[in-house]
Amino acid sequence: MANPSFVDTVVLGVDRVLKTLARPPRAERPSPGREVEDVSLSETDTRHAAGLMRVNHTGEVCAQALYEGQALVARDGRVKASLLDAAREEEDHLAWCDERLDQLDSKPSVLNPLWYGLSYVLGTATGLMGDKISLGFVAATEDQVCKHLESHLEELPVDDARSRVIVEQMHADEARHGTDARRAGGVEFPQPVKDVMTLISRLMTQTSYRG
Ligand SMILES: [Fe+2]
Ligand SMILES: [Fe+2]
Repeated sequence: MANPSFVDTVVLGVDRVLKTLARPPRAERPSPGREVEDVSLSETDTRHAAGLMRVNHTGEVCAQALYEGQALVARDGRVKASLLDAAREEEDHLAWCDERLDQLDSKPSVLNPLWYGLSYVLGTATGLMGDKISLGFVAATEDQVCKHLESHLEELPVDDARSRVIVEQMHADEARHGTDARRAGGVEFPQPVKDVMTLISRLMTQTSYRG
């Protein structure tokens, strides 16, 4: 007979997948975009902002899947708890991006289920290498995400204050996730591994921008 804890894990995992890919996702914190007055943007700016926010939305789908996969196999209970805490914040980010996409009259990427699956496998594989590598992976990923969000702050239309405050809050949260992971004992990743991560994230960015 199957081990009940394994069954529980699978049921919980499926529940998480459905929640991540379902629309609209739930946020614990309201979107910072709600505190900012929306202004009407030109058609070109709206399309560009939607493309960028769609990329961020897919990034959050990936982040949740990575953390969930890593938490599934984390050995230390505290590491597992901190990964799940971070995943909960990614859920807020996901909901904020989703809400903004809706306001920009656009939709998330159709490739999200694929990215979720790939990220979950990658997260689990990394987690199996041990907690210190897993935490190092979080730190390296969040570094890249922060750089990517900084580039979006350069690229987003100046008038799109709503998207900008969302990206700014996400940047603050991601930087904290990275710092926490390093403090918890995450190892520094070698540059070639970081280069491969950059390539994968570039592929995600380019495909998600389009739709
Ligand atoms: Fe995030
Ligand atoms: Fe994060």
